[in-house]
Amino acid sequence: MAEDCFFSDKDTLVIKPQKKNPLLLRMIMLALVMISGVYICSVCLKQRRISFGPNLMKVDIVEQPCPRPNISQAEVLFVHYPQPTTYRRNECRCTPVRYFAILSMQRSGSGWFETLLNSHINVSSNGEIFSVKDRRSNISSITMTMDKVYNLDWFSSAAKNECTAAVGFKWMLNQGLVKNHEEIVSYFNRRGVSAIFLFRRNLLRRLVSILANEHDRNLKQLNGTHKAHVHSKDEAEVLARYKPKIDATKLIRTLDENDKMATDALEYFKNTNHIILYYEDLVNNRNKLMDVLEFLRVPKMKLVSRHVKIHTRPLSEQVENWDVISKSLKGTKYESFLNSDYQM
Ligand SMILES: *[C@@H]1O[C@H](CO)[C@@H](O)[C@H](O)[C@H]1NC(C)=O
Ligand SMILES: *[C@@H]1O[C@H](CO)[C@@H](O)[C@H](O)[C@H]1NC(C)=O
Ligand SMILES: *[C@@H]1O[C@H](CO)[C@@H](O)[C@H](O)[C@H]1NC(C)=O
Ligand SMILES: *[C@@H]1O[C@H](CO)[C@@H](O)[C@H](O)[C@H]1NC(C)=O
Repeated sequence: MAEDCFFSDKDTLVIKPQKKNPLLLRMIMLALVMISGVYICSVCLKQRRISFGPNLMKVDIVEQPCPRPNISQAEVLFVHYPQPTTYRRNECRCTPVRYFAILSMQRSGSGWFETLLNSHINVSSNGEIFSVKDRRSNISSITMTMDKVYNLDWFSSAAKNECTAAVGFKWMLNQGLVKNHEEIVSYFNRRGVSAIFLFRRNLLRRLVSILANEHDRNLKQLNGTHKAHVHSKDEAEVLARYKPKIDATKLIRTLDENDKMATDALEYFKNTNHIILYYEDLVNNRNKLMDVLEFLRVPKMKLVSRHVKIHTRPLSEQVENWDVISKSLKGTKYESFLNSDYQM
């Protein structure tokens, strides 16, 4: 804008007054030049005020740019410098932040896994935020909720005073994730969100955990409160006493459905930046957790959780109608679920 004005000023001045003209004519010319000059300048000033106003306000807020981290071009999409609206990051302002989401299914160890991640000083995982129906009722609610989390404006017990270098939350496949997968995949790829898949290989054990958890939800065995996770061996012992009876007629179908749900989710999200973890692998080898820290590009450190595993005994001791169940799985692709146990 300013340049346009400058040039038109020049054009006006280029008009040469002719020598023969009397003084009056010169005066008129001069007056015309002055008037047009004043007009052009006033228009210019008005435009300046309009186009520069908001920018001036921005200058106030924008601080020194952070030094660019030394990363490859492919990584740039995944490095963020969020500016929360509710507080200032102060000395953490230039700590780059990675966005992640733990994608899992109920009773697959994600509660335990999340407490492990949250024991890292630079990781904040905000829990199962989409367990609240309103937040997942449509894609705009989902997007708004994620924007808030990734802008570091979401407050939960996981919020850190330390410099957060990875922020995320836990999301169950049946909480609007599979249903809205197209939009969510595009959000992940647009905003550089990394997916951490956490599945359980032994879906029969998962089923036992679901039924036992359901049972406790009704009976509230620990002094009248329902606990999905426990922090002591005694509590675990109380909850593990219950042996569910599994409906053998529906078993194969249930396992098929669960298997398909996980397979489909992996297919939908295959083009996102992701890592796939299995609960059994993490239990058997804690070093696997370091793969996750590497994936999130946060410093490696020991992770701890107070969670105590509830079902530790062989499955045969934890299912009421074991004979029927083992017979119905023999010779199927799920037969291995009957044997594979923990090396704990
Ligand atoms: C950036 O990283 C590469 C390898 O990761 C290294 O060779 C290079 O020296 C680094 N540059 C700076 C300025 O630190
Ligand atoms: C999306 O869901 C929220 C919360 O349930 C609701 O307030 C909003 O009107 C919905 N928006 C659309 C576009 O349906
Ligand atoms: C982790 O947090 C500490 C404490 O706030 C901070 O000094 C450090 O720079 C952070 N590390 C990373 C990689 O962000
Ligand atoms: C239940 O209450 C008893 C006595 O008040 C206490 O000793 C015990 O630790 C409690 N158990 C649990 C699981 O909270």
